[in-house]
Amino acid sequence: MAAVRDSREMAAENPAVELAKSHLVQPWPYAGSIGAEARTLVTSGDGVYLIDGDGKKLIDGPAGMWCINVGHRREELARVMYEQAMELSYNTPWYTMNAPSAELSRRIAEYAPGDLNHVFYTTGGSSAVETALRFMQFYNNVRGRPEKKLILSRGGAYHGSTYLSASLNGRPRDRDWMDAADDLVVKLSSPDPFRRPKGMSAEAFCDFLVDEFRDTVKSVGAQNIGCFVGEPIQASGGVIIAPAGYLKRIRDICRENDILYVSDEVVTGFGRLGHVFASEELFDIEPDMITFAKGVTSGYFPLGGVVISERLLKELNRSNHPDAMFGHGLTYTSHPVGCAVALKNLDLLEGGILDHARAVAPYFQQRLKTLEELPLVGEVRGAGLMACVECVADRESKDPLQLDKDVGKRIDQHCHELGLLVRPLINMCVMSPPLVITKEQIDHLVAILREGISRTMDDLRKEGVWQG
Ligand SMILES: Cc1ncc(COP(=O)(O)O)c(C=O)c1O
Repeated sequence: MAAVRDSREMAAENPAVELAKSHLVQPWPYAGSIGAEARTLVTSGDGVYLIDGDGKKLIDGPAGMWCINVGHRREELARVMYEQAMELSYNTPWYTMNAPSAELSRRIAEYAPGDLNHVFYTTGGSSAVETALRFMQFYNNVRGRPEKKLILSRGGAYHGSTYLSASLNGRPRDRDWMDAADDLVVKLSSPDPFRRPKGMSAEAFCDFLVDEFRDTVKSVGAQNIGCFVGEPIQASGGVIIAPAGYLKRIRDICRENDILYVSDEVVTGFGRLGHVFASEELFDIEPDMITFAKGVTSGYFPLGGVVISERLLKELNRSNHPDAMFGHGLTYTSHPVGCAVALKNLDLLEGGILDHARAVAPYFQQRLKTLEELPLVGEVRGAGLMACVECVADRESKDPLQLDKDVGKRIDQHCHELGLLVRPLINMCVMSPPLVITKEQIDHLVAILREGISRTMDDLRKEGVWQG
């Protein structure tokens, strides 16, 4: 395999590599390399493409971290950022307000289901989930139900990297070496149909998940449970799509038991599934809160938020404790530049990108599905413009780890050589390209991925780790 150029070679031309190794702490590092690591240097982007430190053009397969929805280098977004910063770069949200955040809230409320009419802005997805959780705690304190605080979450979930949001995460590798507020969280099974018990139908698996949810509510006691938090499609867990009808049934149980339903649309929102929000449009659920981030500014500015049901706010307005304070706010809450970027980003989505995403999504899924012809691939699944290629050692046992812990990384290395950036997740490769991707670019992406997986299969055979 012709290796992707080593970081030492790149450093000869770009000092960023050595500087990073000397001074930068990257996210999700291993103890052995923390603070001393260089990653693939990228220097510019345009549309669905990135340019790496070698000048190599790469398709941005994961759109950054599921976020560059309108594509790189959109002049409209750069311009609005400049113009807003020149007009009003910042104002304290403690005792002033700005017009872009008020206007953005109106437009978000129009898209949000039911009475989700009010928006609290944060700096990203973790702080959005954190805000929803702290709001649930406040809400129940004010209602005089201080014991109603437990949070239901599921295996395979990813909700963030702040202490409480991270405590909901259900991917083992994220948690192995980290502390968590385990006494506040109750964990449920992952809704992953690919890994359902052998011989169980999808319908029976759905019943199993719903029964587990209902039994948990009964055994823990609804009076102790504040909310359920769930992604409509579990993104970082490997694009896990629960059985049809499952989310709605969970929503009904929550409603019957006065448990708030928080739909985490940090990934699925703002066009990834072809709609501004997917909860109601695609899953027929009306949550009590929706968290969002990433695609709201297409990654051009760090912004997130929570859309909150008017019913909950009115209850607080009418409570016996009108002076109780929701002691929660960030320096950058309602940031005028972020909100101005989000308004322009919404214009772009409405101006044809949402339609385009809906139009190319079936082609994207259908082309990727052809990779199931390769013996290393156990399943290709997805919806809209998010998909996952899950590799297995053996299709019968679906063993993901037996052959190689980091098969995704091997595929990523080959694909990088061929012109595609992949998001490797242990034995999986996640794809969520910018929504502006064309059919020709999809063909190119899939052709490279096919070749990357084929080369990985050859390597594994040569090394004698796998004979599929
Ligand atoms: C569903 C979901 N929620 C929350 C987060 C956390 O968002 P952030 O990284 O912006 O804090 C992520 C990040 O990937 C996510 O996928």
